[in-house]
Amino acid sequence: MRKRLVAGNWKMHGGIEQNRDLLSKIVAGTMEIDKATCAVCVPYPYLSQVHSFLKDTHISWGAQNISQYDKGAYTGEVSAMMLNDFSCRYVIVGHSERRTLYGEDNCTVARKFKAALDAGLVPILCVGETLDQREAGLMEQVVSEQLDAVIELVGVEVLADSVLAYEPIWAIGTGKTATPQQAQDAHIFIRKRIASQNPTIAAELQILYGGSVKANNAVELFAMSDIDGGLIGGAALLADDFVSICMAANN
Ligand code: PGA
Repeated sequence: MRKRLVAGNWKMHGGIEQNRDLLSKIVAGTMEIDKATCAVCVPYPYLSQVHSFLKDTHISWGAQNISQYDKGAYTGEVSAMMLNDFSCRYVIVGHSERRTLYGEDNCTVARKFKAALDAGLVPILCVGETLDQREAGLMEQVVSEQLDAVIELVGVEVLADSVLAYEPIWAIGTGKTATPQQAQDAHIFIRKRIASQNPTIAAELQILYGGSVKANNAVELFAMSDIDGGLIGGAALLADDFVSICMAANN
């Protein structure tokens, strides 16, 4: 039985005061949760804050990006070892905003995934298609290429130590959620593709859905048998909404 995970992706939002308020409400609101994992992925400067704030709580934390390199002359980059200094459990890799706005291609994303794994972090690998690609019937091809680049570099076995997130780009930040069936179909496709190489890993792999998950649609999305939780953007910044989504994953 796969445990559900709800991970908040704060993106470039937050502030010391605001975070304190949001985190205390999240911690208090999710006390009863025992069947799902809740996590927040915060901007780098706040890792120290979440580390001290969350270390004795049931909430996990992580970052939103990672360098593919261990160390060196890479101005502005942050390594896996640095994330370990703040006891991060998760790191988002290959989010569509990084792919689109910062030119991360499948090969770079695969290297970042490997850097995270090598350091003992759990990478949350994001895959997903644009609206044009979906309408052209290319969802499966695009997602396969994104997945295969990672599997070719690290092998299918290590997916056991990672999380996938299917995030159709047309649903991110648009308020236009994939229907539960659309999301379920994509998740089944991903799981089958991995199962063709290793059925055990595929059966155990957590596959999250991301893209306008809100308090009012989380229950129906999480009711789908292959959706193992969510990667939450906008709603992760609103304590009540994020708590409701975590509760939906717990049921
Ligand atoms: P959203 O973002 O929930 O605001 O659509 C999801 C994501 O980008 O991970």
